[in-house]
Amino acid sequence: MTRVAVIGAGYVGLTTSAYLAHLGHDVVCADVVPERIDALNQGRIPIFEVGLEEMVRQGIDGQRLSFVLGAETAVDDAEFAFLCVPTPQAADGSAEMGFIEDAARQIGPRLRSEAIVVNKSTVPVGSTRAVEQALGREDVFVVSNPEFLREGSAVHDCLHPDRIVIGSDDQAAAIRLAALFEGIQATVVVTDPATAETIKYASNAFLATKVSFVNALANLCEAVGADVRDVVFGMGYDPRIGFEFLKPGPGWGGSCFPKDTRALLHIADEAGYDFSLLRGVIAVNDEQHERVVAKVVAAAGGSVEGRTIAAWGLAFKARTDDTRDSPAIEVVRRLQERGARVRAYDPQARGGLEGVQRCSDPYAPCEGAAVLVVLTEWDEFRWLDLDKVRALMAVPSIVDARNLLDPAAARRKGFVYEGIGRP
Ligand code: UDX
Repeated sequence: MTRVAVIGAGYVGLTTSAYLAHLGHDVVCADVVPERIDALNQGRIPIFEVGLEEMVRQGIDGQRLSFVLGAETAVDDAEFAFLCVPTPQAADGSAEMGFIEDAARQIGPRLRSEAIVVNKSTVPVGSTRAVEQALGREDVFVVSNPEFLREGSAVHDCLHPDRIVIGSDDQAAAIRLAALFEGIQATVVVTDPATAETIKYASNAFLATKVSFVNALANLCEAVGADVRDVVFGMGYDPRIGFEFLKPGPGWGGSCFPKDTRALLHIADEAGYDFSLLRGVIAVNDEQHERVVAKVVAAAGGSVEGRTIAAWGLAFKARTDDTRDSPAIEVVRRLQERGARVRAYDPQARGGLEGVQRCSDPYAPCEGAAVLVVLTEWDEFRWLDLDKVRALMAVPSIVDARNLLDPAAARRKGFVYEGIGRP
């Protein structure tokens, strides 16, 4: 059993801890929030993530996983120390290194000789050096190992990664880290730290580019009377294009894409390269939020002032309770700015939203509503009783920002239906 410390019990840290324990390692995970540690030691996790609570419990029951307060205590005797702390966005768009440097300063003096510090946080290219300096140790290694898990399928993504990327200047350290993942079937890409850090940003920026491309294409389809879903269907059979990440919607959001695209743009600016393509990708995303708002305003007859708008969905995508940088929240906020009274239902979304009435079932927000706007692609929205929705609404009008519903069925039920990029 290899002793592993994980610093940070957020999305990445918690999932990493649970699956390394699942692989048979002896894992101690540290966080700075005492209540979080208490709850975790009892097997209660602070986020909604399919399969994660079960995996955490199995780790605790098998005595391979425990949680402690403070990074220092976690690293005693550890062969590996994973840094999984947040890198929030600074005012200039760059990623803040404060948490990661603090963590490195704390663990530096306690690390055993030859330990490997593994950086999983998304950090500016070249940060491995900064971590090395903060650690203040010559006899430990710092290796980059970017994380590609998606919220909502984090456990699956850890157990079945498409690839494992290891960035290290030391071949032996890279091999030791690769051995930690024994049992996981995946291609291991070994490179230098700066390249590994760039792979993470490039992957997220490319995926965001695909989504912005299809959103822009959807707008074109509306202008020329084409159906974007069939366009994607017709394109996707070309394996060079594929079907993934080509669903139009209210724009991309979440804890990674907005932060990482801006950070990459900042990195490019600093390096003297004008990454105009990426600038465009971000601009299209901002426009997309606004286009959904404009559709709702149009559906309400030209103004939402004083009107009730029902929103289905607040989470940034389905199968997560996360509302960080959620396009749904952005659309709701902009509708409020225009004087709308918004009532919302989301089966999982965390936290309240100022001025928005949260309803406990999907029908309640529809009462007296001028428009129903579908903002998150929760499966359950597909199967709801549209006759009941229609009877509740003041005006039977749907803006389906996720192309989730069947337009023909909605129209048959008497709704005015507006999707994204389809007639
Ligand atoms: C993303 C990356 O996928 C993951 O590899 C990385 O580690 C973290 O960032 P996540 O933030 O969980 O994961 O969300 P993801 O599933 O990628 O979706 C991002 C956004 O794009 C969501 O707002 C989603 O609704 C939107 N999206 C995605 C679309 O609008 N259309 C699509 O076809 C796909």
